[in-house]
Amino acid sequence: NVMKHVSGIPQLEKQLKNILHLSRVVIVPGNSDEQPWVKNEMGLTCVKVMESLITDNTVIAIMGGTTLAAVAEMMHPFKQSQKKPLFVSARGGLGEQVENQANTICAKMAEKADGHYRMLHVPDQLSEESYHSLSMEPSIRESLLLIQSAGMVIHGIGDAMTMAKRRRSSQELLDKIRKEHAVAEAFGYYFDQNGKVIHKVKTIGLQLEELNDERPVITVAGGKSKANAIEAFFKKGPDSVLVTDEGAAQQILQNN
Ligand code: F6P
Repeated sequence: NVMKHVSGIPQLEKQLKNILHLSRVVIVPGNSDEQPWVKNEMGLTCVKVMESLITDNTVIAIMGGTTLAAVAEMMHPFKQSQKKPLFVSARGGLGEQVENQANTICAKMAEKADGHYRMLHVPDQLSEESYHSLSMEPSIRESLLLIQSAGMVIHGIGDAMTMAKRRRSSQELLDKIRKEHAVAEAFGYYFDQNGKVIHKVKTIGLQLEELNDERPVITVAGGKSKANAIEAFFKKGPDSVLVTDEGAAQQILQNN
Protein backbone atom coordinates (compact mmCIF):
# COMPACT_ATOMS: atom_id res chain seq x y z
CA ASN A 1 0.00 0.00 0.00
CA VAL A 2 1.52 3.27 -1.21
CA MET A 3 -0.32 5.29 1.41
CA LYS A 4 1.58 3.67 4.27
CA HIS A 5 4.64 5.63 3.31
CA VAL A 6 2.91 8.97 3.24
CA SER A 7 0.85 8.97 6.41
CA GLY A 8 2.48 10.22 9.58
CA ILE A 9 0.98 11.84 12.64
CA PRO A 10 -2.43 10.16 12.19
CA GLN A 11 -4.24 11.86 15.08
CA LEU A 12 -3.35 15.34 13.89
CA GLU A 13 -4.40 14.43 10.36
CA LYS A 14 -7.83 13.29 11.56
CA GLN A 15 -8.41 16.48 13.55
CA LEU A 16 -7.37 18.71 10.68
CA LYS A 17 -9.55 16.80 8.25
CA ASN A 18 -12.57 17.50 10.46
CA ILE A 19 -11.78 21.19 10.99
CA LEU A 20 -11.20 21.88 7.30
CA HIS A 21 -13.88 19.45 6.03
CA LEU A 22 -11.51 17.70 3.66
CA SER A 23 -11.55 14.13 2.48
CA ARG A 24 -7.87 13.65 3.17
CA VAL A 25 -5.01 15.41 4.96
CA VAL A 26 -1.38 14.24 5.00
CA ILE A 27 0.98 15.96 7.45
CA VAL A 28 4.77 15.80 7.37
CA PRO A 29 6.78 16.47 10.56
CA GLY A 30 8.38 19.87 11.17
CA ASN A 31 7.68 23.48 10.23
CA SER A 32 8.77 24.55 6.73
CA ASP A 33 8.99 28.23 7.85
CA GLU A 34 12.01 27.28 9.93
CA GLN A 35 13.30 24.07 8.39
CA PRO A 36 13.68 24.37 4.62
CA TRP A 37 13.92 20.60 4.03
CA VAL A 38 10.36 20.20 5.32
CA LYS A 39 9.15 21.80 2.07
CA ASN A 40 10.92 19.05 0.14
CA GLU A 41 9.28 16.47 2.40
CA MET A 42 5.88 17.95 1.48
CA GLY A 43 7.01 17.83 -2.14
CA LEU A 44 7.89 14.15 -1.95
CA THR A 45 4.63 13.37 -0.16
CA CYS A 46 2.72 15.20 -2.90
CA VAL A 47 4.52 13.12 -5.56
CA LYS A 48 3.46 9.93 -3.76
CA VAL A 49 -0.15 11.09 -3.52
CA MET A 50 -0.08 11.98 -7.24
CA GLU A 51 1.32 8.55 -8.02
CA SER A 52 -1.47 6.87 -6.06
CA LEU A 53 -4.23 8.92 -7.73
CA ILE A 54 -3.08 8.83 -11.35
CA THR A 55 -5.56 7.27 -13.79
CA ASP A 56 -5.69 6.81 -17.57
CA ASN A 57 -6.11 10.56 -17.85
CA THR A 58 -2.49 11.46 -17.20
CA VAL A 59 -2.88 15.20 -17.84
CA ILE A 60 -1.84 17.07 -14.69
CA ALA A 61 -2.48 20.81 -14.29
CA ILE A 62 0.24 22.61 -12.33
CA MET A 63 0.31 26.01 -10.58
CA GLY A 64 3.35 28.00 -9.43
CA GLY A 65 5.17 28.93 -6.21
CA THR A 66 8.12 27.69 -4.17
CA THR A 67 6.15 24.77 -2.71
CA LEU A 68 5.24 23.51 -6.18
CA ALA A 69 8.90 23.99 -7.13
CA ALA A 70 9.74 21.61 -4.25
CA VAL A 71 7.26 19.09 -5.67
CA ALA A 72 9.15 19.30 -8.99
CA GLU A 73 12.45 18.91 -7.16
CA MET A 74 11.26 15.65 -5.60
CA MET A 75 9.48 14.28 -8.68
CA HIS A 76 10.23 10.78 -9.99
CA PRO A 77 8.60 8.52 -12.60
CA PHE A 78 5.19 7.15 -11.54
CA LYS A 79 5.40 3.42 -10.97
CA GLN A 80 1.86 2.30 -11.70
CA SER A 81 1.18 4.54 -14.68
CA GLN A 82 1.33 2.95 -18.15
CA LYS A 83 1.15 6.19 -20.08
CA LYS A 84 3.65 9.00 -19.69
CA PRO A 85 2.22 11.90 -17.68
CA LEU A 86 1.62 15.24 -19.39
CA PHE A 87 2.24 18.25 -17.14
CA VAL A 88 0.41 21.38 -18.23
CA SER A 89 1.06 24.78 -16.84
CA ALA A 90 -2.26 26.13 -15.56
CA ARG A 91 -1.13 29.73 -15.41
CA GLY A 92 1.18 32.13 -17.18
CA GLY A 93 4.45 33.63 -16.15
CA LEU A 94 6.11 36.94 -15.38
CA GLY A 95 4.43 37.65 -12.02
CA GLU A 96 6.89 35.39 -10.25
CA GLN A 97 10.61 34.70 -10.49
CA VAL A 98 11.36 32.19 -13.22
CA GLU A 99 12.04 29.26 -10.88
CA ASN A 100 8.66 29.75 -9.21
CA GLN A 101 6.62 30.04 -12.39
CA ALA A 102 4.23 27.26 -13.35
CA ASN A 103 5.90 26.94 -16.79
CA THR A 104 9.34 26.25 -15.34
CA ILE A 105 7.93 23.90 -12.73
CA CYS A 106 5.98 21.79 -15.19
CA ALA A 107 8.99 21.43 -17.52
CA LYS A 108 11.07 20.23 -14.57
CA MET A 109 8.37 17.81 -13.43
CA ALA A 110 8.19 16.34 -16.92
CA GLU A 111 11.94 15.88 -17.05
CA LYS A 112 12.05 14.12 -13.67
CA ALA A 113 8.92 12.02 -14.21
CA ASP A 114 9.97 11.02 -17.71
CA GLY A 115 6.83 12.66 -19.09
CA HIS A 116 5.84 15.50 -21.39
CA TYR A 117 4.93 19.12 -20.75
CA ARG A 118 2.96 21.94 -22.27
CA MET A 119 3.57 25.53 -21.25
CA LEU A 120 1.17 28.44 -21.20
CA HIS A 121 2.86 31.41 -22.82
CA VAL A 122 0.95 34.33 -21.39
CA PRO A 123 1.68 36.93 -18.73
CA ASP A 124 0.14 36.15 -15.37
CA GLN A 125 -1.69 39.42 -14.82
CA LEU A 126 -3.60 40.96 -17.71
CA SER A 127 -5.68 43.97 -18.59
CA GLU A 128 -9.29 43.33 -19.69
CA GLU A 129 -8.34 44.15 -23.26
CA SER A 130 -5.34 41.85 -23.64
CA TYR A 131 -7.22 39.16 -21.75
CA HIS A 132 -9.87 39.06 -24.47
CA SER A 133 -7.53 39.15 -27.42
CA LEU A 134 -5.14 36.57 -25.97
CA SER A 135 -8.01 34.21 -25.09
CA MET A 136 -8.80 34.08 -28.79
CA GLU A 137 -5.32 33.04 -29.93
CA PRO A 138 -5.56 29.50 -31.33
CA SER A 139 -2.46 28.19 -29.52
CA ILE A 140 -3.67 29.60 -26.21
CA ARG A 141 -7.18 28.20 -26.72
CA GLU A 142 -5.61 24.83 -27.33
CA SER A 143 -3.61 25.04 -24.09
CA LEU A 144 -6.72 26.10 -22.20
CA LEU A 145 -8.67 23.10 -23.48
CA LEU A 146 -5.85 20.85 -22.35
CA ILE A 147 -5.86 22.45 -18.90
CA GLN A 148 -9.62 21.96 -18.65
CA SER A 149 -9.26 18.31 -19.60
CA ALA A 150 -6.70 17.64 -16.86
CA GLY A 151 -7.37 14.61 -14.63
CA MET A 152 -5.61 16.13 -11.64
CA VAL A 153 -4.80 19.62 -10.35
CA ILE A 154 -1.86 20.51 -8.07
CA HIS A 155 -1.70 23.93 -6.44
CA GLY A 156 -0.31 25.96 -3.56
CA ILE A 157 -1.78 28.56 -1.20
CA GLY A 158 -0.02 31.75 -0.20
CA ASP A 159 -0.37 34.37 2.50
CA ALA A 160 -2.23 37.28 0.85
CA MET A 161 0.16 40.12 1.68
CA THR A 162 3.26 38.03 0.99
CA MET A 163 1.93 37.13 -2.45
CA ALA A 164 0.77 40.65 -3.34
CA LYS A 165 4.22 42.01 -2.50
CA ARG A 166 6.04 39.18 -4.26
CA ARG A 167 4.05 40.02 -7.41
CA ARG A 168 4.84 43.69 -7.03
CA SER A 169 1.13 44.50 -7.01
CA SER A 170 -0.19 48.06 -7.12
CA GLN A 171 -0.48 50.18 -3.98
CA GLU A 172 -4.21 50.07 -4.58
CA LEU A 173 -4.29 46.28 -4.21
CA LEU A 174 -2.02 46.37 -1.16
CA ASP A 175 -4.40 48.89 0.45
CA LYS A 176 -7.42 46.75 -0.41
CA ILE A 177 -5.79 43.67 1.10
CA ARG A 178 -5.10 45.57 4.31
CA LYS A 179 -8.51 47.24 4.50
CA GLU A 180 -10.53 44.15 3.70
CA HIS A 181 -8.27 41.82 5.71
CA ALA A 182 -7.34 39.38 2.97
CA VAL A 183 -5.31 36.53 4.39
CA ALA A 184 -5.04 33.95 1.60
CA GLU A 185 -4.20 33.79 -2.09
CA ALA A 186 -4.63 30.92 -4.56
CA PHE A 187 -5.40 30.80 -8.30
CA GLY A 188 -5.14 34.60 -8.44
CA TYR A 189 -7.98 35.01 -5.91
CA TYR A 190 -7.52 36.82 -2.60
CA PHE A 191 -9.68 35.61 0.31
CA ASP A 192 -10.51 37.01 3.74
CA GLN A 193 -10.66 34.81 6.88
CA ASN A 194 -14.23 33.75 6.05
CA GLY A 195 -13.24 32.56 2.61
CA LYS A 196 -14.89 35.52 0.88
CA VAL A 197 -13.16 36.56 -2.36
CA ILE A 198 -12.09 40.17 -1.96
CA HIS A 199 -10.08 40.45 -5.16
CA LYS A 200 -9.44 38.46 -8.28
CA VAL A 201 -6.46 38.99 -10.59
CA LYS A 202 -7.43 38.71 -14.24
CA THR A 203 -5.52 35.63 -15.37
CA ILE A 204 -5.64 33.26 -18.30
CA GLY A 205 -5.49 29.68 -17.11
CA LEU A 206 -7.27 27.50 -14.63
CA GLN A 207 -9.98 29.28 -12.66
CA LEU A 208 -11.18 28.29 -9.21
CA GLU A 209 -14.72 27.68 -10.52
CA GLU A 210 -13.38 25.01 -12.83
CA LEU A 211 -12.42 22.74 -9.97
CA ASN A 212 -15.16 20.23 -9.35
CA ASP A 213 -15.49 17.00 -7.45
CA GLU A 214 -14.80 14.89 -10.48
CA ARG A 215 -11.06 15.25 -10.55
CA PRO A 216 -8.69 15.14 -7.65
CA VAL A 217 -7.14 18.37 -6.45
CA ILE A 218 -3.98 18.23 -4.37
CA THR A 219 -3.20 21.31 -2.29
CA VAL A 220 0.37 21.62 -1.01
CA ALA A 221 0.91 24.34 1.59
CA GLY A 222 2.64 24.38 4.94
CA GLY A 223 4.53 26.46 7.50
CA LYS A 224 3.06 28.02 10.63
CA SER A 225 2.82 31.37 8.80
CA LYS A 226 0.31 29.90 6.33
CA ALA A 227 -2.12 28.57 8.97
CA ASN A 228 -4.65 31.38 8.50
CA ALA A 229 -4.33 31.26 4.73
CA ILE A 230 -4.97 27.51 4.60
CA GLU A 231 -7.98 27.78 6.88
CA ALA A 232 -9.44 30.71 4.95
CA PHE A 233 -9.02 29.05 1.56
CA PHE A 234 -10.88 25.91 2.60
CA LYS A 235 -13.85 27.85 4.01
CA LYS A 236 -15.11 27.98 0.43
CA GLY A 237 -12.44 26.10 -1.49
CA PRO A 238 -12.90 22.78 -3.27
CA ASP A 239 -12.48 19.43 -1.57
CA SER A 240 -8.91 18.29 -1.97
CA VAL A 241 -6.12 16.20 -0.57
CA LEU A 242 -4.15 18.63 1.60
CA VAL A 243 -0.43 17.98 1.99
CA THR A 244 0.86 20.19 4.80
CA ASP A 245 3.31 20.20 7.72
CA GLU A 246 3.08 20.05 11.50
CA GLY A 247 3.81 23.77 11.82
CA ALA A 248 0.67 24.76 9.93
CA ALA A 249 -1.42 21.92 11.37
CA GLN A 250 -0.67 22.71 15.04
CA GLN A 251 -1.42 26.39 14.51
CA ILE A 252 -4.75 25.70 12.78
CA LEU A 253 -5.70 23.39 15.65
CA GLN A 254 -4.81 26.09 18.18
CA ASN A 255 -7.00 28.62 16.35
CA ASN A 256 -10.03 26.35 16.60
O1 F6P B 1 1.92 32.31 -7.75
C1 F6P B 1 1.47 31.00 -7.78
C2 F6P B 1 1.05 30.48 -6.44
O2 F6P B 1 0.58 29.15 -6.60
C3 F6P B 1 0.00 31.30 -5.71
O3 F6P B 1 -1.31 31.08 -6.17
C4 F6P B 1 0.22 30.92 -4.27
O4 F6P B 1 -0.28 31.88 -3.39
C5 F6P B 1 1.72 30.85 -4.22
O5 F6P B 1 2.15 30.47 -5.52
C6 F6P B 1 2.30 29.97 -3.17
O6 F6P B 1 3.68 30.15 -3.20
P1 F6P B 1 4.69 29.50 -2.16
O7 F6P B 1 4.54 28.03 -2.35
O8 F6P B 1 6.02 30.01 -2.58
O9 F6P B 1 4.28 29.96 -0.82
